[in-house]
Amino acid sequence: MKFLVVNGPNLNLLGEREPNIYGDESLQAINDEMLETARVMGHELSFFQSNNEGSIIDCLHAARLEYDGVILNAGAYTHYSYAIHDAIAAIKIPVVEVHLSNIAHREDFRRTSVIAPACAGSIAGFGKYSYMLAVSALDYIAKEKK
Ligand code: DQA
Repeated sequence: MKFLVVNGPNLNLLGEREPNIYGDESLQAINDEMLETARVMGHELSFFQSNNEGSIIDCLHAARLEYDGVILNAGAYTHYSYAIHDAIAAIKIPVVEVHLSNIAHREDFRRTSVIAPACAGSIAGFGKYSYMLAVSALDYIAKEKK
């Protein structure tokens, strides 16, 4: 299967950005580890990062024709982007929501995910392993469908 990993705003600065919350590994290092995790399970991954809401929406639309599932960390858009919610709802492929930090255990504004109801499921709070778990989640969904 082919899965797409989409990272939203400020996630390009992983490693530098608030390492006490988000860890000290770069997005590239996490992506490399995900590639290996997916390869072992027999899946292919592609990656996209943008700081712009519209680009993330365009990317989700395009993904529906090319990929079997999406892993999405929408960053702060998670908490208020109804447009990204609607883009997820508009596409038929499963989208797994991911967060490095446990958003349920942080500031009030982070405790709500407006995208969660449109997603197949959500994984938060396990640092970079949230992404690895998301690969397993898509693997599970793919096997369940067979
Ligand atoms: C995040 C949590 C969001 O609240 C925040 O805006 C991010 C990262 C996470 O991965 O923990 O940019 O999505």
